[in-house]
Amino acid sequence: MKYDFDTVYDRKNTNSLKWDFAMERHHSEDELPLWVADMDFKTPPQVIEALKKASDGAFFGYTEPKEADKKIVSEWYKRRHGFYPDPESIIFTPGTVFGITTAILAFSDPGDAIMISQPVYYPFSEAVLDNGRKLISNELVRDNKGRYGFDFASFEKQITENDVKIYILCSPHNPVGRVWKKEELEKIAEITLKHDVLVIADEIHADFIYEENEFVSYASISDEVRNNTVLATAPSKTFNTAGLQISPIFIFDQGKRRLFRKKLGALGYSQVDFLALAAMKASYTECDEWVDEVVDYIHENILYMERFLEERLPELKMTHPEGTYLTWVDFSGLGLSDRDLERFIREDAKLWLDAGFIFGKSGTGFERFNLAAPRKIVEECLNRLESAIKYLKK
Ligand SMILES: Cc1ncc(COP(=O)(O)O)c(C=O)c1O
Repeated sequence: MKYDFDTVYDRKNTNSLKWDFAMERHHSEDELPLWVADMDFKTPPQVIEALKKASDGAFFGYTEPKEADKKIVSEWYKRRHGFYPDPESIIFTPGTVFGITTAILAFSDPGDAIMISQPVYYPFSEAVLDNGRKLISNELVRDNKGRYGFDFASFEKQITENDVKIYILCSPHNPVGRVWKKEELEKIAEITLKHDVLVIADEIHADFIYEENEFVSYASISDEVRNNTVLATAPSKTFNTAGLQISPIFIFDQGKRRLFRKKLGALGYSQVDFLALAAMKASYTECDEWVDEVVDYIHENILYMERFLEERLPELKMTHPEGTYLTWVDFSGLGLSDRDLERFIREDAKLWLDAGFIFGKSGTGFERFNLAAPRKIVEECLNRLESAIKYLKK
């Protein structure tokens, strides 16, 4: 490998949400954090260089993305995923969740039903409920191998019964790690078009795809689908720049784009962050090789964890991730209540993870691990877990 992902850096005292806010978030300092989704690898050197250059000028005034900056986002999609989304469709926002929230406000009214598929990234439900919309969850179904999928009959039934206006698709899916197949996306498209449901597709994890799986952008399905899609992405997951807030949102239909822009203005947002834009440019143009390597490294972490659990902790069942850098593990074999499981994870295993139930009721008994970290951290996490389980069984 050209790049180093093995070095463990001390991220304490760097204003890191993951490492420096244990007390504020009611955790203890000795819990090893594998929760919030940023990486414990350094950002690609090309991005660091671009940020240094941008800072050298000593001016941090207003800026704006040019047409060429939009093109590099579309070209990244084309290079990595074989689909060229029209760069003219892009509207920049300070974050994917901000973009999704803006779309909810622009394309629905208070009281309207918005559907998600839990267990899913929890800010989706917050964005719906905090804006006075009605939350509908079409639960994913889990087979006996722990793989998740849609139940399309109930998906359609819930849409018609609740007069759903918007569906928020997580693709690839956080936390269950599915990379949705083209046929699955086509089925979602067929049902949502039939019932006039707008789709917000969050593709922020699209660059983390493993083995034979292939990422298909929802917007690539057809022209009709594209015009009914708000496509949200960001460089932040791929290049580990979550603290540099910028998120291109593709809205392909001109009328919808106008409405979205109006809502964005009404929320008081106009110009993008100066440093975030500089970082984004370097990210999407100079870091392909870094991304190839980081994806391989994380894939090895995933396989390492899977082997470890199979061989040493068979009572825990991990869903094999097809994508994302997150793993989803069923702890129900330990027979603990939600409360006892949380206590066990924090106090016995000394880990800071994301508890499954925050992703929805169906996440009860699960924990989500973030494996975008040097192998040593993953090893330490699993060793802590093994010792705690041994102690629990005594
Ligand atoms: C599915 C998904 N969407 C959005 C985000 C966050 O994006 P942003 O920081 O751009 O709002 C995350 C972060 O973990 C995520 O997993």
